[in-house]
Amino acid sequence: MQSLLKKYNIILLSVFLISCERDIEVYDVNNFTSDTLMFNFEPNYVLVNSPDGFPPIEIPSENPMTEEGILLGKKLFHDPILSKNNQQSCSNCHMQGFSFTEPSSVSFGVEGKPGFRNSMALVNIVWNKNQNWDGSAISLEEQALEPVTNPLEMNSESWSNVIQKLKKDSDYPRLFYEAFGVENFDSSHVAKAIAQFERTLISSNSKFDLFIRNEINLTTSELRGMEIYMTEKGDCFHCHSYPFLTDNDFHNNGLDPEPFLDKGRGNITGEIYDYGKFKTPSLRNVALTAPYMHDGRFNSLEEVVEHYNSGGVESSTIDPLMKFVGIGQGLTSQDKIDLINFMKTFTDTMFTQNVNFNNF
Ligand code: HEC
Ligand code: HEC
Repeated sequence: MQSLLKKYNIILLSVFLISCERDIEVYDVNNFTSDTLMFNFEPNYVLVNSPDGFPPIEIPSENPMTEEGILLGKKLFHDPILSKNNQQSCSNCHMQGFSFTEPSSVSFGVEGKPGFRNSMALVNIVWNKNQNWDGSAISLEEQALEPVTNPLEMNSESWSNVIQKLKKDSDYPRLFYEAFGVENFDSSHVAKAIAQFERTLISSNSKFDLFIRNEINLTTSELRGMEIYMTEKGDCFHCHSYPFLTDNDFHNNGLDPEPFLDKGRGNITGEIYDYGKFKTPSLRNVALTAPYMHDGRFNSLEEVVEHYNSGGVESSTIDPLMKFVGIGQGLTSQDKIDLINFMKTFTDTMFTQNVNFNNF
């Protein structure tokens, strides 16, 4: 034991010597004040431009976007330090290559326990009116707090534990100071930074966007699929409307009979007429986000199209826009192929490969 300690001392000493030689700034995280602080708070404010044809972006005044905040948020988003035992990061369930969702029907938490719902793609969420399949959180800031202590997700015992870990880290105290000018940061700053990063996850360069901007043409099959999608024939456009390919509202699209296993929006409002309603997911990058629906019940776009083609299951809250319930859409097999080919034009590889979003 003695010799071990000795060895440890020597290692510590040599680290210290190297530090002095290279003139690295050393600080004691447990005991620093403004006087001893060597950090700067000179935030570089960032203006997020709305792509052509998209509505304006509204950033909450209490959380202005800064380069420092976005970079900190990106680091936190990819860092398992927020979870119990440092095993799971937000990006484990929200992977960039899958448009920030994951290829699993429901999500599994840090201890392998299954959750109840399919992870959601994080794309153009700066325009979200509320978060989660049932809208249980309003802002992205509010949403970001939830997975960290959720027993079926990252399962940290408490936020104060997480903050302690972050304060002991060699980078985070400086990064929080640079982003927010605070030494004594807390969960609200973690949430703000993550929300700033999430607000940069903007997709506007899919094949379909380029077509809308008159930059390219679609194939004959894709054009036929577009017609089905955009007209009463398939009638997808009412709920999955351009540019977000969602109306950001809650609907029952006829998946289940009553009583509903998951009441969805009804869990939040308590209103019977909201039972079985879920937020319309954006179809951006939908070819990459299988499995589908709030519980990941469909493995392929073929299965999804089959669901809509069948007309869906009748219930007291099924949406009036589900007009084909009981009769079916009567799509031919060529129609189905065309509709799927059209949905594949929603893939935006500039988004899924954007190096600004990954952690390298
Ligand atoms: C265990 C997997 C898992 C982890 C870890 C996880 N999420 Fe999620 N995320 C989900 C699931 C599942 C949903 C849908 C939840 C629901 O509707 O009940 C979701 C929903 C969301 C949404 C809502 C998107 C929308 O359009 O409404 C956001 C934003 C989000 N997560 C961000 C995060 C952030 C930030 C973290 C890390 C602090 C995180 N998630 C960690 C699985 C996960
Ligand atoms: C009444 C509104 C409405 C209409 C019309 C509608 N959808 Fe949906 N769509 C939704 C809702 C709501 C969900 C999520 C339902 C759930 O998970 O409980 C959804 C889910 C999906 C999904 C799964 C996406 C994912 O990430 O899980 C796909 C794909 C989809 N719809 C395609 C279509 C197509 C194609 C059409 C036209 C044939 C269409 N939708 C018509 C509301 C609608």
